[in-house]
Amino acid sequence: MDSASANSPGRFITLEGGEGAGKSSQIQVVKDYLEARGIDVVVTREPGGTPVGQEIRNLLVSGDKDKWSPLSETLLILADRAAHLERVIRPALADGKYVVCDRFFDSTRAYQGIAGGLGLEVIHNLQQPVLGTTLPDVTLLLDIDPEKGLSRAQERGGDLRFESKTLAYHQTLRQAFLDFAKQEPERMVVIDADRDIEAVSTDIITVLGERLDV
Ligand SMILES: Nc1ncnc2c1ncn2[C@@H]1O[C@H](COP(=O)(O)OP(=O)(O)O)[C@@H](O)[C@H]1O
Ligand SMILES: [Mg+2]
Repeated sequence: MDSASANSPGRFITLEGGEGAGKSSQIQVVKDYLEARGIDVVVTREPGGTPVGQEIRNLLVSGDKDKWSPLSETLLILADRAAHLERVIRPALADGKYVVCDRFFDSTRAYQGIAGGLGLEVIHNLQQPVLGTTLPDVTLLLDIDPEKGLSRAQERGGDLRFESKTLAYHQTLRQAFLDFAKQEPERMVVIDADRDIEAVSTDIITVLGERLDV
């Protein structure tokens, strides 16, 4: 699989995992690590990495858990991703920046493809024209028992549409991410997220040191 660095000077790092795993908390650690090495960093997220994407995010994350079917979710997410790639991710990579993104295509594969039941082939065929050759160089998978992750997310509050899906959905999701990591160990690294924030951060810094030549 090609990666972002195969055809642009920047590098593309994604954080993945279930609700409450600590992605949004730990993304700052990645940013600080890279900036301390003199690298220009763009921190962003999906959905919602552009103004139009923020509108799409609002449609996705609020309301009843069955408000959108998995296929409708996928199409909304891909509209967000297309704008994000065109307007934020590819221009930054072309500029030699490091892009650090809170969720990307593995979430679509896990949520809508596996947990939502659409299947990975359908997801691949829909998202391939959106992704082109822009794929992550490194993906940090923050892994946690969904019961623990969901209770962290409940405490955090905010929009909880995905959090309100069944525990079985979230358990399927966790296993899907772990399977992806097994299939692509050169890209994805599993981080045990069921520890205190500092211990998780230390692991992330170690992995970045090993995986990125910076
Ligand atoms: N390692 C951790 N231990 C305990 N609480 C955590 C940990 N990491 C994050 N949290 C808390 O759990 C909640 C969810 O974390 P967040 O980073 O928003 O997760 P995500 O972005 O993966 O959904 C937040 O309130 C955050 O402060
Ligand atoms: Mg988050």
